[in-house]
This record gives sequence, structure tokens and C-alpha cells, in this order.
Amino acid sequence: MPAILNVDGLFKVHQEGSAPVLKDVSFTVEHGEFVCVMGPSGSGKSTLLHLVSGLDQPSGGRVQLAGRMLHELSDRERTLLRREKVAHVFQFFNLLPNLTVFENVGLPLAIAGERPENHEAKLRGLLDRVGLASKSKSYPHQLSGGEMQRTSIARALAGDQPLLLADEPTGNLSQRAGLEVMQLLRTVREVDGRALLLVTHNPRDATFADRVLFLVDGELARGRTITGPNIPVEHVHAALTELRI
Ligand SMILES: Nc1ncnc2c1ncn2[C@@H]1O[C@H](COP(=O)(O)OP(=O)(O)O)[C@@H](O)[C@H]1O
Ligand SMILES: [Mg+2]
Repeated sequence: MPAILNVDGLFKVHQEGSAPVLKDVSFTVEHGEFVCVMGPSGSGKSTLLHLVSGLDQPSGGRVQLAGRMLHELSDRERTLLRREKVAHVFQFFNLLPNLTVFENVGLPLAIAGERPENHEAKLRGLLDRVGLASKSKSYPHQLSGGEMQRTSIARALAGDQPLLLADEPTGNLSQRAGLEVMQLLRTVREVDGRALLLVTHNPRDATFADRVLFLVDGELARGRTITGPNIPVEHVHAALTELRI
């Protein structure tokens, strides 16, 4: 089976004449692996995730998702592949404000043409798992930040995609709520056996990964990968200091 994700020599310039954001980025995420890419603000982490999911196109290099080369697909094929293979968790949650927690979590099923009502047991199980069984009828504005992010993790799980992309998932949360979110994200790998690609500048969050890569000046720092599990946060801090991030 091919890796769930392989990126090779990714190069990205947003605007002609401007400096490239990504210069030569190559790495692989195996099925069921939790990989973290760390880099400071503005280093191209969100850009990288957009390229990985085919929402944006690289200026050079290739992305292979679930064995398919994204550049060989039509826009329609890329959209369908993304829906089938990739779930997202964002810094600002991206919940739909007019839908309840239950309806937000059921959204991937609705998008796949299913009726969420027919999957009530599954959706209730997911809400229970993220500690929101009692909030299923609430609306996003009635939730705390941590509850909103846990709703979005349940939503990410509802679609059964093999790869979850998380962009600064604790960036808008308290220390404690962020820790709960990271513990839940770890279960996505441990319990569900799905792969995660986390991009963050939070050293604590990186400690949950199986492998941490550092994005510096548009490239992944060679020979500075940290492997887990159970990475001591001091190791992450030491790498950041050494790389002057
Ligand atoms: N759509 C875009 N058009 C032009 N410049 C962009 C665009 N998206 C991001 N950038 C620029 O690319 C750089 C990297 O941005 P981003 O990928 O958001 O970094 P990060 O997520 O690590 O903070 C920044 O300088 C940002 O201003
Ligand atoms: Mg970003």
C-alpha cells in the first residue's frame, strides 16, 4: 500500500516576483502515523497544508495523496479525492454557526450524500467520545473554545477519512483546553489508526507526534527530525533554539 501522503520537492511562490514560501519540501506520512511540522509564524505551514489537500497548487514539486498524484487529476477529481481521504481541523474551528453541534458533526455524512439521521448511533458515539453528549443541541456560539474544537474533531472523525490535517488546532485555546484537544487528537492515531499531519508552532503540541520535522526558510531542517512517541518537550525546545526558530 502506498503511503497516505508523499510530498516531493514542493516549491511555492504565492506571487510572481516574491520570495518563495516553500523551496524544497519533501516528506512522507505513512498510514496511521502522526507527523508534526513545526515552524514559526509565516514559515509556510498553512500553505503546505493547502498544497497537501489540493486546495492550492504548488509552483513546483509533487503531492501524492493515497497513491494519486494530485497534478494528474482534474479539479473535480481532486475535490472528490480530498473529500474521501482528508479531514480538517482548523485554528478557528470553522463550524457552521446556524447548525447545532449534532448537525455540524454530521456534516461530512451529509456532504457524502448520506442522511445524518440514519447514522444517529455513530454520531452520538462520537459526541460522547469528545465529551459533548449533553451539548448536541447547542449552537457553536454557546460553546467554549475547547468545546468548539472538540466538536470539530468529532466532525473530522465522522467522515472516516484516513488522513487528518490539523492547522494550529490549539492556537485559540487555553493551556488546559489545548491539552485536552491534543490528547483527543492522539487517540485519532491510537484508537482509529488514522494518520495525522499537524502544523504548529506550539512545542507542547509537537510532543504528541511520532515524528517532528522543522520548517526553516522554506525547507525541512535536515538531520533535525525528532522521533517519538512521548517526546520530551525539552527536546523540542532544544531543536528550536538550535535552529533559531
Ligand atoms: N494566498 C496568499 N497570497 C499571497 N501570500 C500568501 C498567501 N498565503 C500566504 N501567503 C504568505 O506566505 C507566507 C507563509 O504564510 P502561511 O503559509 O500562512 O504561514 P504560517 O501558516 O506558517 O503562518 C506569509 O508570508 C504569507 O503572508
Ligand atoms: Mg498558518
